[in-house]
Amino acid sequence: MTHILVTGGAGFIGSHVTAALLAAGHDVSVLDCSHPAAHREPPQVPDGVRLHHADVRDREAVRLALHGVEAVVHQAALVGLGAGPDDLPEYVGCNDLGTAVLLAAMSEASVTRLVLASSMVVYGEGSYHCEKHGPVRPAPREPADLADGRFDPVCGDCGGTLNAGLVEEDAPLDPRSVYAATKVAQEHLAAVWARECGGAVAALRYHNVYGPGMPRDTPYSGVAAIFRSALESRRAPQVYEDGLQRRDFVHVSDVAAANVAALSAGPGFRAFNIASGHPISVGDMAEALADAFGGPRPVVTGRYRLGDVRHVVASPARATAELGFRASVTPAAGLKEIACAPLRG
Ligand code: UD1
Repeated sequence: MTHILVTGGAGFIGSHVTAALLAAGHDVSVLDCSHPAAHREPPQVPDGVRLHHADVRDREAVRLALHGVEAVVHQAALVGLGAGPDDLPEYVGCNDLGTAVLLAAMSEASVTRLVLASSMVVYGEGSYHCEKHGPVRPAPREPADLADGRFDPVCGDCGGTLNAGLVEEDAPLDPRSVYAATKVAQEHLAAVWARECGGAVAALRYHNVYGPGMPRDTPYSGVAAIFRSALESRRAPQVYEDGLQRRDFVHVSDVAAANVAALSAGPGFRAFNIASGHPISVGDMAEALADAFGGPRPVVTGRYRLGDVRHVVASPARATAELGFRASVTPAAGLKEIACAPLRG
């Protein structure tokens, strides 16, 4: 049994991680500030878990929470697209300053093992290939193209059609939102820290996480939560673009299992895609959810958000090979389940 500190352990993903760590026989402490973007109620943790109700930026509280701890699973973060530029300081504060405070306190306490909640948003667009020009990193899509319904990125050299493939962990990082930029910075800070302190960091690049307890529709919610909230109020899910954009929806119980597995990652910094391995289009995801909920049918609106990327799907092969992680919930089964599962908030 190891004593693990889970930051953000009362949130959507963090509470599943906490439960999985307990089930694996670990002793768990939670540090959670019940940030208003994620919580409407005070944080709750299972019996036997020590709760430190504090912000990860609070060095003294983090110091206390690290007492007797052997590893940290860092989930505390502000996620999503946010409400706009006003959010910038809070994103950077929670995600990057928070990580810096945590890493400094870990060094002080000689805690050298970290599992970091990262995200596939660090890649920007997914992986693309042009038949004439080979691998291509598409630029952000032009508003005029989006307005005309040309949603797929094209080759910057010949303007030709691109084939979308699976993004690998060694792909260049290309953050395209404030949130994404803070996740890249977190990874870089943790990598430098691992080198300086001889630490072990497993950065888990979560794909689109969904499951029981996910938040309701807020500026910080992902599409699965937004569609689920719409269905609950008998509104049709609004599918943007043509609905053919692809993502990998990974069940929160699998994400929790990946965190447990990542505690045995090797030394140094290593990133892992955490995905189901069953990519699906956003349109098909909306259909599956509406089917399971019993309507109303989704509407494909052609609307778009400038900051969105088109396709991001990945292979979980590295996590399987190095951590022994394999997702067990297919989107078909998981989406059926969350149609009726309770939401948070
Ligand atoms: C999402 C999360 C991101 C997280 C990442 C990996 C948000 C806003 N984004 O990124 O924080 O790190 O997964 O877990 O939480 N869409 C609709 N209708 C809607 C809303 C969205 O069709 O009402 C579409 C979008 O245009 C996009 C897709 O659904 O094509 C996914 O959107 P979303 O879940 O918001 O963002 P991701 O970029 O996938």
